[in-house]
Formats: sequence, structure tokens, C-alpha cells
Amino acid sequence: MLKETYICASCHAVYPSTPYIWKCKCGGLLNIEWERPAFSKEQIQSGLPGMWRYASALPFHSESSVWKDTTMGEGATPLVPLSEEDPHTFVKVDYMMPTLSFKDRGAAVLIAKAKEWGVKKIIADSSGNAGTSFAAYAKRTQMECDIFLGTGTSPKKIAQISAHGANIRMVDGTREEVAQAAQLAVQQEGTFYASHVFNPYFYEGTKTYAYEIWEQLSGAPDTVIIPVGNGTLLLGVYQGFCELLAEGLVTSLPKIVAVQAENCAPLAQAFHEQRLDIKSVQNKGTIAEGIAIAAPARAKQILHAIKQTGGYIVTAKEQEIKKAHAALAEKGFYVEPTTAANYAAYLKHQKTAQERIVLPLCGAGLKAV
Ligand SMILES: Cc1ncc(COP(=O)(O)O)c(C=O)c1O
Ligand SMILES: [Zn+2]
Repeated sequence: MLKETYICASCHAVYPSTPYIWKCKCGGLLNIEWERPAFSKEQIQSGLPGMWRYASALPFHSESSVWKDTTMGEGATPLVPLSEEDPHTFVKVDYMMPTLSFKDRGAAVLIAKAKEWGVKKIIADSSGNAGTSFAAYAKRTQMECDIFLGTGTSPKKIAQISAHGANIRMVDGTREEVAQAAQLAVQQEGTFYASHVFNPYFYEGTKTYAYEIWEQLSGAPDTVIIPVGNGTLLLGVYQGFCELLAEGLVTSLPKIVAVQAENCAPLAQAFHEQRLDIKSVQNKGTIAEGIAIAAPARAKQILHAIKQTGGYIVTAKEQEIKKAHAALAEKGFYVEPTTAANYAAYLKHQKTAQERIVLPLCGAGLKAV
């Protein structure tokens, strides 16, 4: 077996990576440490489905076949120029995933790991897309699944989750109260917490986003513009490119430009006040529902990652997100509003002539009303 351990980001306490630990005794967040084998182009296994071509960079034993029963072919999404006028700007069409959002990258790895651990039931909380991914992968692996959602969740995402047979537990409260209700149930019921925020295996999945861009562009782009709520894509991208840099496969990290909705922007506020800690804000309501997170748990890590890459955070107004949504549709991309915020940020970005920019298109337009 691989030797994987959890290490607390706050007090550096070390734990064995076992299913029922999801935060440190001090309340700190857990990261994974494992002996990563060296990774090079030669390790890419082109015969494997989707993102699993990078299986040797993922925390599974090389003999393990557990993920083979879990995968639905997630990953290996297209990277195409935005338009003829913007030949150096690429969109990565991550809504072409089994459940129509990038969250499948993280859920596929986390659920495969849960299966390896023998987990029979999971609890997760979500603004919609992560819950959909977990519901689908849990069903595929015959795990029982409870998803905690807020009453304001998009009806289409609720329909998608219940179609996979998950038990929906509705909470009339903020996104943070939904998470607290899930965590209480995890504690009282002794269930596995499939948290895309707390469980670090999720980021092992989202890091494949960086590996794919590196392979598709034969190197790192200059800039990646990422919508950020809890930061599961942003932290995965950062981790992935850091690993590629450590292997000498890219020569520098891409600048990470994060975008938040102006109506719910705790990270943007902290960044502009040059703080590494956030003050929880009140979500004033945004059509970018996937990034409406008033108090992201991994805020410090997100802000650190942006700073390390020389990036910045920008906010998008509701009107700008709506316009960006329509403009992307005119170019052929029908996305959900959360990820249209990206394009709104792109339009404000002062790009240089040859700057290679990647915009993730994270969720399909059919998911939103
Ligand atoms: C379509 C879409 N894009 C972006 C995000 C942001 O991801 P995160 O909250 O992990 O930063 C989400 C989260 O639900 C999403 O659904
Ligand atoms: Zn700790």
C-alpha cells in the first residue's frame, strides 16, 4: 500500500489517512503527504480513460484497480481557442463531464479512495454540483449517499441528485449552515464525510486539470482565470502546476487570477486588504451560485496560492456575469452563470499581446434555470 498520511495545515499534527478523520483535533485543515513517485511524460498512460492517463501521479497503488470500477471517463476535456480573434486564449470545456461539471474530477478520486477504504455510506454538503458528482459516483459504487442542500439550490441540480437515488436532506439556511448540518450528522451518525472542501483527496482529482493543460499546451499557460468559492479547482490547479514545476515539466507557475461575484466576495476583500484571513461576509445573492461561499474554509491556502503565482482576485457584478453568459453562448459555449464570471473577469484582464490564457468552463448551462 502507499504510505499516505494527513498533516494539519495549522499545527502540523500527523494522522494516518483513514476514512473517519476530516479535520485536526485543533480544528485545522488536513493535507495529504505521500511518497509521490517521480512523474514524467513517459508515465502518461494514454490507454487509460480520461484523467486516469495520469494515474501514476494519483494516490493509488499501481496495482490498484479500485478506480477502474468507479470511473465514468471523467477528464481529458477539450482545450480550444476562445475565438479566431483571441488565438492565445483557450477555454477548457470541463462541462463535458459525466455529470456536467468539473467536480467529477475530485469526486472520482475521493469516491475511489472511499471504496478502497470499504466505505458503505457517505454524507456530503453542496451548492449543487459537488453533490451531483458525489451522488452519481456513490451510486456507481453502490454506496448509500445523503446530500445536504440549501433550500435555494437550483431545481435542476436537485433533480439530478435525486435521479441518482441520493437521499436529499434540505436545510433552510445559508451555505455555511448547510455544511454545519452535514458535519453534525457525520458526527452523530458516524458516517464518512465526503467533503470536497475538507477531504484533501478531492484536490488530487482537481489537480488533473493542470496536468491536462500542461499536456495540451506542451507547457504551462501564462494565466489561468478561475471562479472561486471554496477553491477546489483553484487549489487543485495550484497543486498540479507545483508538482509539474517540481518535476521540471514546466518552467514557471501560471498566474492565477481568481474571480468572485461582487455580491459574495470574502476572498477578494481579504486580498485587497492584504490579509491572509477572511472576514465572513453576507451573501447578498448572486446568479453565480457555485461561488457564493461567505466563509471558505481553505481561504488562507487560496490566498497564498494566488500570491505565490503573482496573480490577483477580481470581482464581477451581476450584470457583468449576465452579459458574459450571453457572450459565451454567442461563441458557442452554453455554460452555467457561475462559470460565466470567468469570462467577465477575462474581459477586465489587461492581457499582453502573446499572453496564453486559459478559462475553465466549469459547469453546463443546462444545470441553471
Ligand atoms: C460550475 C462551478 N464553477 C465553479 C465552482 C467553484 O468551485 P469552488 O467552490 O470549489 O471554488 C463551482 C462550485 O460549486 C461550480 O459549481
Ligand atoms: Zn492541527
